[in-house]
Order: sequence, then C-alpha cells, then structure tokens
Amino acid sequence: MPEVAARAVLAEASRVVVFTGAGISAESGVPTFRGPGGLWKTFKPEQLATAEAFAKDPKLVWEWYGWRRALVAGCEPNPAHRALAAWMRARQGVTLVTQNVDDLHERAGTPSLIKLHGSLSVDRCSRCDYRRDVPPGALYDPPPLCPACGAPLRPDVVWFGEMLPEDQLVAAEQAACRAEACLVIGTSGAVYPAAGIVHAAREAGARLIVVDPGTTEYDRMTDLKLTGPAGELVPPLLC
Ligand code: OAD
Repeated sequence: MPEVAARAVLAEASRVVVFTGAGISAESGVPTFRGPGGLWKTFKPEQLATAEAFAKDPKLVWEWYGWRRALVAGCEPNPAHRALAAWMRARQGVTLVTQNVDDLHERAGTPSLIKLHGSLSVDRCSRCDYRRDVPPGALYDPPPLCPACGAPLRPDVVWFGEMLPEDQLVAAEQAACRAEACLVIGTSGAVYPAAGIVHAAREAGARLIVVDPGTTEYDRMTDLKLTGPAGELVPPLLC
C-alpha cells in the first residue's frame, strides 16, 4: 500500500519539503494549466503572460487577470490545503513551496510559505519597486498606473521569460537540499526552474512521494506514487 508507506516516510523524516502546483487547487474550482480544461488549452500564454504581451495590450492582459482574480476570490481552500496547514502548525521541519498564485495555502492558515511564481492578489509597478495588495473589488478599466512613478501597474506574478524572485528560489533550493522527504502534490513538473526543486531534493537523497491523478514528469524517479485527487489522498497522509 503506497499510502501506508508514504505516511511512514513523512512521519519519520525530520525535514520535509512539500512542492505544490495547480492540481492541489483543482478541487477548489481553480483550473490547472495543462490538463483537460487547463488554462493553456484555451488561452495562449504568449498573448497573456509575457512582458511583451503586457506592453502590447495591457487592457487585454488586465482583463484576463481580472477574470482569474474574480474566479479565485470565489474559491475556498480544500481539504488538502487545510490538512497541510494543520500539519505544518503541528510539527517542525516542513517547508512548503508553491508555484500557485491563488493564495489558497495562505487562506487555509499555512504558517509559512515560499512562493515561486508570485501572487494574483498583489499589483506591482512595471518599472519601479512599488507594490500593493489589490484593493477590494478592484476592476481595472483603464489599466492602473503606479502612484509612485506613473508607469503601468501589472499583476505581481512571474511571466514566461522572467526570473523567479531570487530570495524565494534560494530558500526553496536550500530546503530541498536538506530534505529527507519530498512530497509533490498536483504539478506536472514541466516548468523550470521551479520544477528543479524536486530534482534537487532527490539528488540530495530525499525520498520522493507524488500525489497526482495523472502522469507527471517525476513519475519515473518517484519512490511512491499516489494516484488520485489531492483533496482525498493528502489528509490521511498527514497525521
Ligand atoms: P499543470 O497544469 O502543468 O499541472 C497540474 C497537475 O495537477 C497535473 O499533473 C494534473 O494531473 C494534476 N491534477 C489535476 N487535478 C488534480 C487533483 N484533484 N489533485 C491533484 N493533482 C491534480 O500545473 P503546474 O504544474 O502547477 O506558471 O504548472 C506549473 C506552472 O505552469 C504554473 O505555476 C504556471 C504555469 O504556466 C506561471 O504562471 C509562471
């Protein structure tokens, strides 16, 4: 039974890195990117999630992010987010690293979080360092301008071709290199450098557990694969 073995690995490890992707939020109603119904099946990332796209048509990009913000605001954390948050509050030595921008880990009460791809709920200036939490009910038409320097504001998410926030990436890599177990939940493992966190953990000797109903880039190197939805499989693992 991989569930029993996985529970034992996680209970015995003194340092665990957990790496989450869009799949952990699927049961909350947030679409994934690449599977059936995935955002990148319907929308073209080069028209919506690059600095070039934003320079060319900021209104279109803001409309799309406005739609995603509204969608996520109507979603709630699911049992997988909540179980992880409770587990982290109850024990030491767990580092949670997410690629998600939906803030559902935070809303579930997660005590600490490394965010590799930013957050939908923050605006930042496309030129200077200005950042702000998204004002409640904000509908941006026309696209907002930075109150500090006047340049267009953009969502504080990492777009294709952009660097990840260095402090977050370094913290994730350090946790991966120290981990005795690595729990991967709901990610295809297709997007680098984020996906490399799992390889770093594996190379450092961590046991690898993957929870996902589909196939992932990690399947061939995993020790234990739990095939199914996170909301059902994650809570019983973390006790
Ligand atoms: P993907 O859409 O690539 O992968 C989602 C994974 O979730 C797949 O392996 C699915 O099988 C799995 N999945 C679906 N339903 C699930 C469920 N109920 N429980 C558990 N897993 C489930 O999403 P990510 O790997 O997160 O980047 O994508 C990585 C990055 O690509 C995103 O952060 C985003 C995107 O472009 C940026 O925005 C920078």
